[in-house]
Amino acid sequence: MQNMLVGRSHGIRQVREAITRVAPSNASVIITGPSGSGKELVASAIHSSSNRRTNPLVALNCGAIPADLLESELFGHEKGAFTGAIQRRVGRFEEASGGTMFLDEIGDMPMAMQVKLLRVLEERKVQRVGATGDLAIDVRLVCATHKDLDLAIESSLFREDLFYRIAVFPIIMPSLAERPEDLTLLVDHFQAGFGGQPFSLSASAVSYIQSYNWPGNVRELRNFVERAMLLFGGKTIDAADAADLINLTPRRRSALSHTPSPVPNAALAHVAPSRAGEDPRMDSSLPALDRAGKLDMNRIIEDIERQYILDALELADGVIAEASRLLGIQRTTLIGKMNKYNMAR
Ligand SMILES: Nc1ncnc2c1ncn2[C@@H]1O[C@H](COP(=O)(O)OP(=O)(O)OP(=O)(O)O)[C@@H](O)[C@H]1O
Ligand SMILES: [Mg+2]
Repeated sequence: MQNMLVGRSHGIRQVREAITRVAPSNASVIITGPSGSGKELVASAIHSSSNRRTNPLVALNCGAIPADLLESELFGHEKGAFTGAIQRRVGRFEEASGGTMFLDEIGDMPMAMQVKLLRVLEERKVQRVGATGDLAIDVRLVCATHKDLDLAIESSLFREDLFYRIAVFPIIMPSLAERPEDLTLLVDHFQAGFGGQPFSLSASAVSYIQSYNWPGNVRELRNFVERAMLLFGGKTIDAADAADLINLTPRRRSALSHTPSPVPNAALAHVAPSRAGEDPRMDSSLPALDRAGKLDMNRIIEDIERQYILDALELADGVIAEASRLLGIQRTTLIGKMNKYNMAR
């Protein structure tokens, strides 16, 4: 079952090893890591590798449920417990009985709920909202968060006592950028899953995607593969195509201020004083010249230009005068280029 977790990097091997160790126990697990890195997949691998696998895995995103509904969602309620409680309702903890409860985005759980959850974990009993008696529960808890819980504890947004209850066994998901050796395996895995005409990646496209930092992690790569299959099924993708496909990801722009993209970095090599004898084109994220004449220099330069403009606008919060200053070009030149690339103003 753990084979679902594709990857041969040291990071992914460690995660697989951790799953194997912890799955058979009843220890509470906390999975941390950036968005899209595979936290939910790990939670389901833990469940399906445990001896609870024939019982339910119940998942709940604590950040997606309004605070006032969370208690009844988790613990259920009796008929008439509050306005609108027209029927008795079984809570998620009860549903998960004998199985695994996956609390996603636990860092978003309101303080008032944290106290109640702590009590449930300590007493191994839940009380439906409006009920008088308790119900014993046998549930294995797996939590995930992309938040830094240490910081949340310091800022009094997360209870330290609850943290120690839920964080018996931590699993830390590496970001995709930290494991470039997994990229081609994941690309093949997703291509097989989507079916249809597969594309192939040229060597320069492989270096390109290996130098890109994938702010949306595996989820972003999965989207990239889905798009690439639609647009390049049966063909070979080169670095410029890969750059285009990545630029179609809307999320990317919001991540730019923290995560500069590989194209501008590579392009910077041309303007930065380079060490003697160093050819900036050797940067792995730029496509190499090829004898078949497949290189399209104008397109590569346009890609780089467009990317610089997007980055500058992001840094300048959309203020054109400031963006043009950052780029070292005239304001009117920038406007002309934005029109050329159909960028909204
Ligand atoms: N190592 C992996 N092998 C195969 N598929 C993966 C791997 N890691 C992630 N995925 C896939 O990538 C997508 C995102 O993973 P998942 O939903 O588990 O991430 P997450 O960390 O829970 O994200 P978020 O923080 O946004 O909730 C899913 O489709 C998942 O199946
Ligand atoms: Mg998730």
